[in-house]
Amino acid sequence: MAEDDFREMLELLLNNTHEGLVICDAAGKILYFNRSYAEMYNMKQGSDFGKNIREFFPRARIPVIARTGVAEYGVIHKWKGKDLVVNRIPIKEGSKVKRVIAQVLFRDIKELKSMNEKVANLKIKVESMGAELRKFLQAKYSINDIIGDSYQAKQLKKQAAKYASSSLPILILGESGTGKELFAQAIHRMSPRSEKSFLAINCAAIPKELMESELFGYESGTFTGATQKGKIGKFEMVEGGTFFLDEIGDMPLEMQAKLLRVLEEKQITRLGGSKTIPVEFSLIASTNRNIEDMVERGTFRSDLFYRINVFVLKIPPLRDRREDVLLIARNIVASSLPGHGTEKVVFSREAESLLIQYGWPGNMRELRNVVNFAMHNLLPHESVIEPKHLPPSLFARVEDHYSKPVLLPLKRGVENREKEIIRETLRSTYGNKVAAAKLLGVSRSVLYDKLKKI
Ligand SMILES: Nc1ncnc2c1ncn2[C@@H]1O[C@H](COP(=O)(O)OP(=O)(O)OP(=O)(O)O)[C@@H](O)[C@H]1O
Ligand SMILES: [Mg+2]
Repeated sequence: MAEDDFREMLELLLNNTHEGLVICDAAGKILYFNRSYAEMYNMKQGSDFGKNIREFFPRARIPVIARTGVAEYGVIHKWKGKDLVVNRIPIKEGSKVKRVIAQVLFRDIKELKSMNEKVANLKIKVESMGAELRKFLQAKYSINDIIGDSYQAKQLKKQAAKYASSSLPILILGESGTGKELFAQAIHRMSPRSEKSFLAINCAAIPKELMESELFGYESGTFTGATQKGKIGKFEMVEGGTFFLDEIGDMPLEMQAKLLRVLEEKQITRLGGSKTIPVEFSLIASTNRNIEDMVERGTFRSDLFYRINVFVLKIPPLRDRREDVLLIARNIVASSLPGHGTEKVVFSREAESLLIQYGWPGNMRELRNVVNFAMHNLLPHESVIEPKHLPPSLFARVEDHYSKPVLLPLKRGVENREKEIIRETLRSTYGNKVAAAKLLGVSRSVLYDKLKKI
């Protein structure tokens, strides 16, 4: 580039910056100032060059900077009622100051103040949104919400409290409705992370193709269409809290490998991104599937299993701790909506014995439904829950209990028993086949096939 072109370019640049710029020699003689500077102080480019800065500003600091050689940054220069923000920088040759450059960064400190205010406002917004989000992502239940006086219940609560103090993964196993999520929340509330988020994700409920972007997030422009904007993933969102992976047995194998990598490396990369982002969380996983069996069959990765199978909380089904049934049932009555005089509602002896003898394939969830069902059936003047208020499914099961074994060829006996089990399960799910298939541990199509033969 020719020297003239370069000069012109430089002039252009200097004259089109927002900052006011002036350069003086060590004696304070003005060598140059740009257009912004001229406008600010009402001076003339060209004709005012060569004059001494003190002619314009009798108390100018530039000669002082030239003498001391010490720069000043961000100082306020009062000028005609305005507060300007200025830098004054000595340019040295060896130890001698040759020139001094002054930059006027803000024409008025108000500019700086308003910018500051904007930033401060944004900060407040972000922080309060974070607090809102954390409130939203809080665990609802604590260990006190877990009712149970049986030996197993007490042991479980003790174990949960012990696990909570660690940041290692926790695996909660148990049939459907045994209270796995309740325990996960209670563990979070007892942990040192209790002030942070509790974030739950149900692997069975998220379509396979969406799971990765849900967990890892994506950069803007990764997908076309409605999702142009980027999105933060759950791993990032949890920010040092607890990540509850519900139904981990339903996580696709490929995602399992990715999860394992996150657990090991404690960092992620958003989809479509290249930057690694550190993540911090404690994992609680749960499943009602037989996960060891899945490992053997190759449907669950053994390396991930060994990683999460450290602290295991095995919640027994309700039928294995019948002592808790009445306690929980009474608790549900007491905590249900007031207004029905519910404080005084009790169970009759017969109703209690039915509840204790029943098998509870749907566990706590089923117990909750049964009690609510009974409360609904109470007439306004009634305050004793009797067998007539309970759903018929309870009797069928109990009758089974007393029925004498009939001698049959094994195959027929097994078939008959299978039919009974299917019928009972359907009764307990109020005819919901999807739920029944889940309880029976078979696929929906297998259940439909079997139903055809009943
Ligand atoms: N010990 C308990 N005391 C009182 N209520 C309980 C207890 N355990 C569970 N519940 C209640 O039972 C219901 C089911 O609990 P939760 O959702 O935690 O079960 P889950 O094991 O996660 O079931 P699923 O495998 O179907 O997801 C909830 O309404 C919960 O409040
Ligand atoms: Mg659950």
